[in-house]
Amino acid sequence: METASEGQKVATGEVARGFRKRDAFATGLGVLTATLGSAVGLGNIWKFPAMTGQNGGAAFIIVYLFCTLLVGLPVMMSEHMLGRRARKDAINTMRDLAPRRQPWWLIGAAGGLAAFLIMAFYSEVAGWVFAYVFKAASGSILSTDPATNSASFGALVSDPWQALLWQWIVLIWVGAIIMMGVSKGIERVTKKLLPLLFVLLIAVCVRSLTLDGAGEGIKFLFNPDFSKVTGPVVLAAMGLAFFKLSVGMGTMITYGSYFKEDQNIPATATKVMLADLTVSILAGLAIFPAVFALGFDVAAGPSLLFEIIPAVFASMPGGDFFVIIFFLLTAIAATGAMISIVEVPVAFLTEQFRLSRQTATLLTLGLLALVGAPAALSFSELSETSIFGKTFFDLYDYASSNILLPVGGLFICIFIGWVWGFDNVKRALSNDGALNNQGIVALFFTVVKYITPLLVLLVLLDGLNIL
Ligand code: PFF
Repeated sequence: METASEGQKVATGEVARGFRKRDAFATGLGVLTATLGSAVGLGNIWKFPAMTGQNGGAAFIIVYLFCTLLVGLPVMMSEHMLGRRARKDAINTMRDLAPRRQPWWLIGAAGGLAAFLIMAFYSEVAGWVFAYVFKAASGSILSTDPATNSASFGALVSDPWQALLWQWIVLIWVGAIIMMGVSKGIERVTKKLLPLLFVLLIAVCVRSLTLDGAGEGIKFLFNPDFSKVTGPVVLAAMGLAFFKLSVGMGTMITYGSYFKEDQNIPATATKVMLADLTVSILAGLAIFPAVFALGFDVAAGPSLLFEIIPAVFASMPGGDFFVIIFFLLTAIAATGAMISIVEVPVAFLTEQFRLSRQTATLLTLGLLALVGAPAALSFSELSETSIFGKTFFDLYDYASSNILLPVGGLFICIFIGWVWGFDNVKRALSNDGALNNQGIVALFFTVVKYITPLLVLLVLLDGLNIL
């Protein structure tokens, strides 16, 4: 139970709990922007278009929307509630809130593993983005020719030293920010720059949509062909919904642990979901009309962003300047997301083993350099090495998004619906009765207890060909 004085400390930005003081987000806006900072990232700008292109367009987007609403949003609210109640890292939150001797902390542990796997490939893609900032600044990427752009991207990713170097630069950069601490580091970076990215994306959309032949791209985005929707495609869409909202692995538990007591959780999570969706759709509108207008390969996957964006800017006044800003803002969005991923193991190591933030961060990033290297080399030295038919890069992505996050989300829902129970949910979502939102509470509880877990289970079993 929170005492009144603890509640007051939260409101002033700090919580004293047990043996150590925890940072709390200083303002409501800080909570929203930091949570958004975690959600908005390469998932919107790189992964969403890549997967939409590979999985047939509109029908995939519709399935993805359903998954976001019925799975991503309820799991996000659940994680926020749990984190705020326990005010601990993900593993210790689950351990504290679970009945004695029930191993729910395993959810947090699986989340730690997912965090590692995601960071291992995410840091590589972020490395490509960082490299493109410099390539753009040297004026070497502006071309509308598919072959030129594909060769330019290929030259970067197939050079093992460049791939490793850019990944290390990203890891060092993220480490430096994390060591500055939660409220100072995260809030400061994300608060100012997300709106700028939003504005620039709109400008790219306008150019892309006004290219000759853009209509095919719009059809691709809005004319669904459901024959393409198979079990694995639905699983991919659901995995993307988890990945996009940063849920299923304890990130949002950790962020919830920094929430203020009077933060309106349903409103915050809904706003984050809507803003995140908007950025993804904008990225789609920026990319697909140009793909068709300029004759690129819609199913290019990981290279799509890096081939198309320079092409759109090449056909835009001031493009040589704005393309630099675009990749810079993308790098910053990726940074917000990476900070939240690395925060999961760092929070655990500091609280469980009482390591200093510095030591925990260094340890995590050192390990990531090791685990990440095979992902970085998946397009060069290790391109022929496959495990379960996948390169390390693809395997990390598949195992985290399509298995660990959904399984984590499934158990979080089961915990909330069947163990924690209605009374706790009611208190958490209504801020101990301060909010008048009984309808939302009842709807949420039914969804999280029955609908979400059933959906996740069915999609998992079907997508993994177990059913
Ligand atoms: N949501 C981020 C993105 O879409 O780029 C990626 C991410 C961040 C996934 C944090 C998971 C996570 F815990």
